[in-house]
Amino acid sequence: MKGIILAGGSGTRLHPITKAVSKQLLPIYDKPLVYYPLSVLMLAGIREVLVISTPRDVPAYRELLGDGSSLGMRLEYAEQAEPRGLAEAFAIGRAFLAGGPCALVLGDNMFHGQDLTRVLSRARGRVEREGGAVVFGYPVKDPRAFGVVEFDEGRRVVGIEEKPERPKSSYAVPGLYFYDGGACDVAAEVEPSERGELEITSVNNAYLREGRLSVELMGRGMAWLDTGTPEGMLKAAEYVEAVQSRQGYYIACIEEIAYRRGFIGAGRLLDLGRALGKTDYGRYLISVAREGERE
Ligand code: TTP
Repeated sequence: MKGIILAGGSGTRLHPITKAVSKQLLPIYDKPLVYYPLSVLMLAGIREVLVISTPRDVPAYRELLGDGSSLGMRLEYAEQAEPRGLAEAFAIGRAFLAGGPCALVLGDNMFHGQDLTRVLSRARGRVEREGGAVVFGYPVKDPRAFGVVEFDEGRRVVGIEEKPERPKSSYAVPGLYFYDGGACDVAAEVEPSERGELEITSVNNAYLREGRLSVELMGRGMAWLDTGTPEGMLKAAEYVEAVQSRQGYYIACIEEIAYRRGFIGAGRLLDLGRALGKTDYGRYLISVAREGERE
């Protein structure tokens, strides 16, 4: 399975910060925001990833992440000329995906929780075995800014409504989606919505109409954090700081995940840590590598 990170958009809710810099390059505590969705794809065992961003920002992503070889991965880059909507990822990524299944993650979505790796591998496994699509439902106090899941009396999913004024449930659909190889063809049929965007919700509803969409509900043990506003960014940074300083384990440390998933060995991890100099981040990588060498 391949992965796509959508890291374009206009980031208007973060102006003036994002007038000159891409939102997903901004720091969340000690690492760029894009590390968090990239780490989610890596935890799903995905090693080939397409990063889509604006023509202005693609060079910066390339500089930050390179071709992925230092992480034992393959990273490619593509431009989205205008933020025409999330479903455009499939038009831009068609050649990259080459008809295969994929996980699509939004570049500003952060997930953390004990169950995350299991949730990811279950979704991946289901799409690879049975085809169709898997999306998630996550309870939020105010879901009006998201796609919202609608259930019937038997708790069966009957639809997803994009940014409804009167949500029919509290379950928002986070920016993480798994699709079979048919997603590019499904997305090609999508017409722009009233607000003029190619909505991912339209793709998901098309799968649902064919009876091929599974909505997995995430429980309260999972954190899905919003980073679209200054307040959301600050809260997300505080969350990362609190967990990391208490536990001593890093969240979304892409080098550590590459090592633990077997993409790279302890020697490479040690080199990556040394290259980061005397930062806590570098020291952390070195300690994980040394622990690995002793085991
Ligand atoms: P949004 O949060 O919907 O939009 P935005 O990032 O442009 O921010 P704002 O609402 O403040 O203007 O986007 C969700 C994610 O998807 C984010 O990571 C940007 C990305 N995105 C694209 O890459 N291309 C697009 O066409 C759109 C709409 C979003």
